[in-house]
Order: sequence, then structure tokens, then C-alpha cells
Amino acid sequence: MQTQVTLRRPDDWHLHLRDGELLKAVLPATTQHFARALVMPNLVPPVVTAADAESYRQQIQRAIPPASPFEPLMTLYLTEATQPDDVAEAAQSGLIKAVKLYPAGATTNSDSGVTDVTRVTAVLEKMAEIGLPLCVHGEVTDADIDIFDREAVFIEKVLDPLRRRIPGLRVVMEHVTTIEGVNYVSENDQSLAATLTTHHLMINRNHIFAGGIRPHYYCLPIAKREQHRLALRAAAVSGDSSFFLGTDSAPHLDDAKESACGCAGVYNAPNTLSCLAHVFEEEGALDKLEGFVSLHGPAFYGLPVNTDSITLEKRSTPLAADEKLQTASGPLTVFDPGHALYWHVV
Ligand code: DOR
Ligand code: ZN
Repeated sequence: MQTQVTLRRPDDWHLHLRDGELLKAVLPATTQHFARALVMPNLVPPVVTAADAESYRQQIQRAIPPASPFEPLMTLYLTEATQPDDVAEAAQSGLIKAVKLYPAGATTNSDSGVTDVTRVTAVLEKMAEIGLPLCVHGEVTDADIDIFDREAVFIEKVLDPLRRRIPGLRVVMEHVTTIEGVNYVSENDQSLAATLTTHHLMINRNHIFAGGIRPHYYCLPIAKREQHRLALRAAAVSGDSSFFLGTDSAPHLDDAKESACGCAGVYNAPNTLSCLAHVFEEEGALDKLEGFVSLHGPAFYGLPVNTDSITLEKRSTPLAADEKLQTASGPLTVFDPGHALYWHVV
């Protein structure tokens, strides 16, 4: 039985770091294991201009633990007022690595997002011209569409028509949660990729309601049926370079989660690599873990792979990780996969 795996140091291609005190509280869990992370721009107010991204980057930089070489990779939040030249300058200076499309109203802090993608054509055409990826929250927002169908409908009604209209546009379908998403990405060319979260590989929609309502498993896109979870796992371990890790670690304080109208988001940064080693071992695919967490993402984004490495070791004693992170504003619950984890980052 394999009890050790050494990988080039991983990157997280979809991460919510927040700002202020919460940023300081959650950042060390990521910098401990990851070399880089693509930082989501859905702050309040959102990161919409190059100037916003530069000031957010500096705030993150100040919160990085001393001596850590961690590098935040910045994104811009696409609005209907986004200027193509501002985006192009931010990309050309190296400040941003992607632009994020939130359909307005789709998820946490998405109110300033896009109501109709045809209204941002000029920005998307500029991005296609300069090769800057668009990261997409792929769910329609129409209340008439069932929450479990919103990703599949988005692909058919929004994403596929958009990619046909602007064929050079490079797109990452973020946190794919369905068979339809997996198939759409695997059947398409190198201009399309997808991130997969840790938690969607481990829970299906039943976990959200097992013995009562479990707000810490509520995120968007919502976890789907078991058949979808199995398709995501198959994609993650397939070795197909179109799929890579984006944890979507999205911290919300317990009082915001455990509420009559709880926020969407799973905070998984602290134990993500232990979870993933568990999943890849279950799938008999530990040899595919490095591609998924360390190689496919940089290849898509045209960045060098990391040069140092980390080792995971399977021990007989379970990971004694804290269930909660105590922050200045209150506790924050860490993702619980529902069973012990034996893979330790050493
Ligand atoms: O569950 C989610 N939480 N999905 C998102 O798209 C946003 C995120 C957040 O920022 O909390
Ligand atoms: Zn997210």
C-alpha cells in the first residue's frame, strides 16, 4: 500500500480570501500548503478596476505570514461598466490573471454582476484578443429554473452561445458540479477548462439534509445527485489536463451560516489536500493527484509550475485538525468530509 506521495507544490485556482480581519484569519491555511491562488474578487464592494485589484493585492501581501513565498494571483469582477482598456492594461502589467463573470444574483456578492452577457461583448472580445481567461460562475439566475438544473441550463443557453460568438475566448468553468459540465468541458478544445472543488468530490445533495439541515454543506453551485459526484471524481482522476483544483474555499462566520437564511460557501482550505489524497486513493489514482493540483492549472494559465514540493503521508492516526477556526469576529467551521482523514501534509 502506498503511504507517501510527493508532489510539486500545488496551486489553488479558485479561492475566496475576503478582506480585513477575516483575510488575516484564513490566509495562513492556504499559504501553508499552496504556492499560489487565484483570488476571487467578490468583496463588498467588489474588485472591479485595476486600481481595486492592486490595492487588494497589497492588502493580501501584508497579511501573508513572514517568509512565506505565497503569491496571490488577482482577478477582476466583470460588470457592465468594465472598460476593455483597463482590463487589458491590468493583464499586460501582470497584475491580473483572469476576469470573473458572475451572473447578477447568482451567488454571494454577485449583485454587481452581469445581467446579460451580450452587454460585455467589447470586454470579452478584448480578452479573446489578448488571451486573458474568463472565469465563469456557470449558473442561470432565473427563479423558474430549478436550482439543481441551473448549471446545465447555463451551458446550453449562455456559455455555449457565448463561446460560439467569441471563439477565441479562453474560459474556465468554475466549480463544475454536473455530468453536463464535465462532458461539455471534456468534449471541447483547449480553450475551455474547469475547476473542481474539494467538497463537490466528497458530498452529494443528500449530505446537506442528512438527519437535519446542515448549513456548512450549503454552497453554490449546490451539490447535486450522487451520479454527478461520481462524474466529477472521474474527471478529477482522469489525467485530462482540462480539469484542475479550485477549492472554492469560501469562509463565512458560523453565525452567518447557521441562520434562517444562511450564506453559501464551504471553508475547506485547512484540510483540502488531506481530503484530496483520500479521494484519489479511493479512486486508485494517487499518481494523478499531482497533475490535478499542481500541473494542469499552470499549463492552462500559461504560468511556470512550482519548483519546490510537498509530501503527504498516510498515517494510522487520523488528522487532528481543528473543527473550527476562531477569528476575532467569531468561529468559522472547517469542512467536515464526514469521516476521518489519514493523509497528513508533512
Ligand atoms: O458557495 C459559494 N460561496 N459560491 C460562490 O459562488 C461564492 C462563494 C462565496 O463567496 O461565499
Ligand atoms: Zn467561489
